[in-house]
Amino acid sequence: MPDLSGKVAIVTGCASGIGAATVKRLAANGAKVLGTDVNADGAAVCDAAGARFMVQDVGDTAFWADVVAAATGEGGRLDILVNNAGIVSQHSIEDVTDEIWDRTYDVNIKGTMAGCRAAIAAMKNNPGGSSGAIINIASTSAMAALPGDVAYCSSKGAVRVLSKSIATHCAQNGYNIRCNTVIPGATETGILNAAEEHMPGLKAAVAATSPLNRLGDPAETAAAIAFLASDECPFMTGAEMLVDGGALSIHPGF
Ligand SMILES: NC(=O)c1ccc[n+]([C@@H]2O[C@H](COP(=O)([O-])OP(=O)(O)OC[C@H]3O[C@@H](n4cnc5c(N)ncnc54)[C@H](O)[C@@H]3O)[C@@H](O)[C@H]2O)c1
Repeated sequence: MPDLSGKVAIVTGCASGIGAATVKRLAANGAKVLGTDVNADGAAVCDAAGARFMVQDVGDTAFWADVVAAATGEGGRLDILVNNAGIVSQHSIEDVTDEIWDRTYDVNIKGTMAGCRAAIAAMKNNPGGSSGAIINIASTSAMAALPGDVAYCSSKGAVRVLSKSIATHCAQNGYNIRCNTVIPGATETGILNAAEEHMPGLKAAVAATSPLNRLGDPAETAAAIAFLASDECPFMTGAEMLVDGGALSIHPGF
């Protein structure tokens, strides 16, 4: 289990699914965690994990400074940011509206960018010198498209390259700040249940495409996040970690 003792972490989208599992996992590994979510149910998740909670809409870019300040507190340090909050929209290129596009991008990519920007400003000035680990959550939908959700899959594609741009910027400027992407496959959470409502049978069909023949458990993604957040992988930056049960590793039809 990666040791995160003494590390200060922010996890967005903590009220359910992968975010809730990540709060639990990072706290269990010793981190002091601040969970955030638009949904106040995140408070109970954080309480149970021994973490703090704050209501946040990640798309409100100005509010990110308050979130980072709440996490750093008097100790003045931030070690880990997990940009996990995300939404789906369920619209193809023919029926997506400007409003749906903008909201999906505000949460999935602008919110992720704003979180990275605010976190790096703090991580650069950590006591003892710059240090930190940022983990952005993309999706296998960023690698193989969803025809019925053009805003979601394209925004998640943007997250992948955003992480690489941030990783290389930090490296070239001599900051000891790594930025990596975790790419979950179909995982048993609220987002997938929402998609199932639009497309009954989706979960079973998607599970069947995985060589492991099942959906992922949020705790399995949280374990990958905890590893990337730890000091055990100092040469990993700009990397992408698939947690998809092998779904993207098999030739279609096999
Ligand atoms: N579940 C999957 O199959 C799957 C697959 C690939 C990627 N992902 C990604 O994993 C991440 C977590 O999703 P999940 O599967 O746990 O779904 P989820 O719906 O259970 O959790 C998403 C959380 O984000 C919160 N959220 C939504 N908008 C927000 C905002 N503007 N500000 C702050 N919080 C907000 C929600 O309230 C919710 O608690 C998302 O980025 C999602 O795209 C999920």
